[in-house]
Amino acid sequence: MILEKSNIVPSEFIIVGGTGNLSKNKILPALFWRFLDKQIDENSNIILCDKEIKSKDDFFSVLKFKCDEAIKKVIDNEKIWDDFLNIIKFVDLDVISGNGHLELIKILKEKFDPNRPIIFYLAIASSLFGNSCRFIRDSGLNVPQSRLVIEKPIGKNKATAIQINNEISSVFKESQIYRIDHYLGKETVQNLMALRFANTFFENQWNNKNVDNVQITVSETVGVEDRISYYNEYGAIRDMLQNHLLQLVCLIAMEPPSFYEADQLRDEKLRVLKALKPITEEDIQTGQYRSFSDELGENSNTETFVSLKVLINNWRWAGVPFYIRTGKKLSTRASEIIITFKNKPHDIFSKFTADAHEEPNRLIIRVQPEEGLKLKLTSKAPGPGGMRFFPSELNLSFGDTFADRLPDAYERLLMDVVRGNQTLFMRSDEVLAAWDFIDPIVEIAKNQETQLYRTGTMGPEDKILVLEGHQWLDPKDE
Ligand code: BG6
Repeated sequence: MILEKSNIVPSEFIIVGGTGNLSKNKILPALFWRFLDKQIDENSNIILCDKEIKSKDDFFSVLKFKCDEAIKKVIDNEKIWDDFLNIIKFVDLDVISGNGHLELIKILKEKFDPNRPIIFYLAIASSLFGNSCRFIRDSGLNVPQSRLVIEKPIGKNKATAIQINNEISSVFKESQIYRIDHYLGKETVQNLMALRFANTFFENQWNNKNVDNVQITVSETVGVEDRISYYNEYGAIRDMLQNHLLQLVCLIAMEPPSFYEADQLRDEKLRVLKALKPITEEDIQTGQYRSFSDELGENSNTETFVSLKVLINNWRWAGVPFYIRTGKKLSTRASEIIITFKNKPHDIFSKFTADAHEEPNRLIIRVQPEEGLKLKLTSKAPGPGGMRFFPSELNLSFGDTFADRLPDAYERLLMDVVRGNQTLFMRSDEVLAAWDFIDPIVEIAKNQETQLYRTGTMGPEDKILVLEGHQWLDPKDE
């Protein structure tokens, strides 16, 4: 199957914090892929703004390594690499003092055109968003074709998120603001919506009459690496739960929007966020991998793992537990959603299956890696010896279906910014509703003991599901 791409207009990609981690690890490799695919070409500019840019050559050699990693081979076409580097420009810019703005304006003037999007991507700490927006306004760079891209987590709690929203919306209109949660750009996450709303098959099952429980696991094998001071301040609850995991809950639980359109989709997600039942102490467990405090060089209670039980107060989902967890330095790198269906109301095979171990039907949505869907069923074992059963599965592997690769989330999201499509970006009220749910969780976690866990396990021993006769289904077991 061939993945189609649509043309986009030449644009200015201005990355503030352009030589930082996010830029070199995610944004630039994504733009390189789009360049390789000829979706962007030499008519676009990538302008890396940073304070005190040191050696461009050093930066390019690191970038080459990152782009090699992204395309999973060494870039052997020197011409393509040189052409890509030719569209990259550097500007020494200090968004607080405004120093460097003349240089930026000079570059932008060269190809100024009202149809040419000017995209400001703030790949910097959210505490600098306000200054950056004021800088853009004061330099006269907020024109109708300007767009602002910012990353999660927006703020550290609801109060700071409101402050940031106020600062950016005093300069940009909501229609110009793109709040990235890169999980929404993942192919399988978008496929969740296709699965639910482009098919009739599952929708009739998608409720508390048929679903027993939902599990969402986002497990990582990496630790916090060079982001330790950021991470120590935010922890897994703010870094992952407030955004990626809650967005997954929203996409599974939301009602069908009337149209696949930005505000309709965001209205439905917002309804889910507002329906989340506040968490109590028994519903949450936190953990920390053993070497975290050593890496930090001081004792810390910050969680690198969190699991919780979430209930949704509405007719469709009342009573169905959503068990969700995420952690670092766990045994497997996998993001997976498992919908376990209720057992059959009556077993016509009881005389054959008295001692057989029967599993309920499960739908497993594998977000990454090895993206795909599995439906776990029970089938008859072939043979003339009566009715015997075995667990079987319908398996749809996207890797096999799409022989070509699946694009990285940032590629899709960046091209959507150019197209002016906000469907896969968060609206300000969604962010605030997520903090409404998360702020009390942070308080509960503060007063709980963070349990240490060994690297390479699936986190601390479960204390939530066991009370309800359930257990975590680890990705590697599926
Ligand atoms: C980021 C978090 O948003 O997502 C990181 O800040 C985390 O801590 C990352 O490692 C995980 O993303 P992915 O795409 O690798 O699952």
